[in-house]
Amino acid sequence: MTTALRHVYRPRGAAADVFACRAPEVLLSGPAGTGKSRAALEKLHAMMLANAGARGLIVRKTLVSLGSTGLVTWREKVAAESIVAGHVVWYGGSQQEAAAYRYSNGSTVVVGGLDKPQKVMSSEYDAIFVQEAIELTVDDWEALTTRLRNGRISFQQLLADCNPDTPTHWLKRRADRGDTLMLHSRHEDNPVLFHEDGGLTEMGADYIGKLDKLTGVRHARLRHGKWVAAEGLIYEHWDPAIHLIDRFPIPAEWSRWWSIDFGFTNPTVIQCWAEDPDGRLYLYREIYKTRTLVEDHAKHILRLVAPGGQWKEPRPRAIICDHDAEDRATLERHLGLSTKAAAKTVSDGIQAVQARLRPAGDGKPRLFVLRDSLVERDPELEDAKRPTCAAEEIVGYVWDTSPGKPPKETPVKDNDHAMDALRYMVAQRDLGAMPRIRILGR
Ligand SMILES: Nc1ncnc2c1ncn2[C@@H]1O[C@H](COP(=O)(O)OP(=O)(O)O)[C@@H](O)[C@H]1O
Ligand SMILES: [Mg+2]
Repeated sequence: MTTALRHVYRPRGAAADVFACRAPEVLLSGPAGTGKSRAALEKLHAMMLANAGARGLIVRKTLVSLGSTGLVTWREKVAAESIVAGHVVWYGGSQQEAAAYRYSNGSTVVVGGLDKPQKVMSSEYDAIFVQEAIELTVDDWEALTTRLRNGRISFQQLLADCNPDTPTHWLKRRADRGDTLMLHSRHEDNPVLFHEDGGLTEMGADYIGKLDKLTGVRHARLRHGKWVAAEGLIYEHWDPAIHLIDRFPIPAEWSRWWSIDFGFTNPTVIQCWAEDPDGRLYLYREIYKTRTLVEDHAKHILRLVAPGGQWKEPRPRAIICDHDAEDRATLERHLGLSTKAAAKTVSDGIQAVQARLRPAGDGKPRLFVLRDSLVERDPELEDAKRPTCAAEEIVGYVWDTSPGKPPKETPVKDNDHAMDALRYMVAQRDLGAMPRIRILGR
């Protein structure tokens, strides 16, 4: 005999609509914090409780990113009472098997990342919830749809949520075509932010105030939920489907470089790059952190690359730095390595990066970012919804178009820290050694 548990969740707006929805593919789109993930998780949990032996999946592009966000809401809000009562038990997984929540009625919710696809794709499910579906490729999405055939529930569903992205994103197009039902979630749907009568709660005022401090495309997407492209994008050729790649074992003989942009209130960015024999650059590690002393950054990176003083990877051929003399001296002292001042000219540096992002003769670009490069997400920046790594900065890095500025010459100096480090890296390889040839007129 199980006693009834009391669980309170009152969905509003799109969150209520998603509960009633039986479409095979449904996407909750909306700005940050409207309750999209909560609604999807609540529905998944309700489906598992109501149908003994059902199988669900909670998935994101990478397992690591799932843990830090979605599963907290699951554990602390959605399945909290069931977990405390012992009706839902966590199973940590094994080498072959994905981790899962197991229900006393025989239902299971598997938890996984598409970075380890064999663990999640070898099973069949009744319902799948994809967090931040924007990160997936269309192939990932279609592969997931083929896994929906467990047949323990009268309908099978691919549920997903996302913040809006560019209007040309495959997921938006899929919704425009009618293959995926898109529901629009709003801040007013979330009772934590808005009262029933439409007035802001105290937390709501604080949260919306924070979102209103965002600028440009981040404001349009994360505050207003609009599928818009940034205007005046500097790196127009950046395409996450091409430039953002899965981790691979980096050969020990590839050269390594570090590039650094110092900050304190703004983040310090430390990027570790590998260069293949054809000269392509791969960003494979990134520290992006505010309010940390240079000395502590130095100790941190040494712990990563040389735990216990033993180097696990090749030493950088150069450490290319922002010019701050004091920061450089501190860094050198604590690393025991010398540094080099970056070529900081903006215009030619940007052009060099642009050239690398465009596909070369062989169809491949000459700059890549390994998608799990970020060492840890800065909670302060995440909380403020600011970019937390290079891949998040690059899509909002735009030209300053204020009156009086010459077109396409100066970037907006905001959320540009990883962009600076990245440019220093490329300038080092593509501009540094180049003789400055001046073509003289006849
Ligand atoms: N109907 C609701 N009742 C109570 N809390 C809610 C409700 N909807 C959302 N929340 C809470 O608001 C916060 C943000 O919700 P979340 O689902 O993470 O937003 P999103 O995925 O849209 O960014 C979470 O703490 C969540 O538990
Ligand atoms: Mg969410």
